[in-house]
Amino acid sequence: MFTINPFAELSASIPVYAMQAYIVVMVLFVIGGTVLDMLHKKSAQYFFENAKKAEKSAKRSVSGGEKASLAISTLTSEVLTSSEFNNQKRRISHLLTMYGFILFAAMTAMMIFAYPTAATPTPGIIPFLWHVGALMLCFGGYWFWFAIRVDVNSEGKLWYKLDRADLFIVSLLMTCTFALIWSILQSAGATGLSILAFCLFILSSTVLFVGVYFSKFAHMFFKPAAAYQKKITKADGSRENLPDDYDLSDPAVQERFPDIPQYMGENPPNMGLGIKRESPNHY
Ligand code: HEM
Repeated sequence: MFTINPFAELSASIPVYAMQAYIVVMVLFVIGGTVLDMLHKKSAQYFFENAKKAEKSAKRSVSGGEKASLAISTLTSEVLTSSEFNNQKRRISHLLTMYGFILFAAMTAMMIFAYPTAATPTPGIIPFLWHVGALMLCFGGYWFWFAIRVDVNSEGKLWYKLDRADLFIVSLLMTCTFALIWSILQSAGATGLSILAFCLFILSSTVLFVGVYFSKFAHMFFKPAAAYQKKITKADGSRENLPDDYDLSDPAVQERFPDIPQYMGENPPNMGLGIKRESPNHY
């Protein structure tokens, strides 16, 4: 069952060009939603103005080579391994959701454009990876939804209390959940139920892609740029106008700020980040 292309079976009742047109329209909605989001929040304008401001307070200039190496490290660290997440459970759940979605979306496009009917047999690995992607997304996404996200984990909200901010995760989860149910029911020959599951699958995916403007979908394009810019501000010393990270026991720092021992003793302890002292769950 997991090696059967569910769209090839569907092509008996829905024309291939309609499926392909749907994918193209959804891609256009993602592009349009992202651009509108950028215009509305003025995020691109803010980003460039902020970068210019940072340049003015830079303490050193960052060479082209250094910038390229920071871009590569952003790709291999923040983008490919979700390194921004300090909470390891959240990081693993994000990795599962992210790679699950990429697999699911890429395999859907392959099946619909390259192997849309039974006349062009689909190599079993493609539908297999489609199912694996959907399962990975469901695993990471439901874990996040029921246990990890701040609303339930730190703010004591009930898992079924929905907010507009949940549009992305809920439509993402519903898309893959109904895709899996549809594929299973279609393989089992349960025609009526499989049509229902298919309609819910398409409804959820339409909400996911048409709702880009209103949801967190576009973060997958913005976050890498923000992570790169953050590295640049550290490299050029502008540090978003935050004070330097001093080692208070360093004699040079003590000489610069002679009142440190008066307030913190001769050997000032390194107290670390306050935010990391305990997990936030005081509801
Ligand atoms: C296929 C791509 C991706 C998917 C499906 C995805 C999925 C998600 C989901 C479901 C959330 C939780 C949103 C919520 O609070 O409701 C999230 C948050 C987050 N993602 Fe992604 N993500 C993707 C790509 C990326 C990339 C490329 C980056 C960074 C370089 C990134 C960084 C983050 C960060 C930092 C958060 C937490 C901050 C926040 O909630 O705004 N994601 N992502």
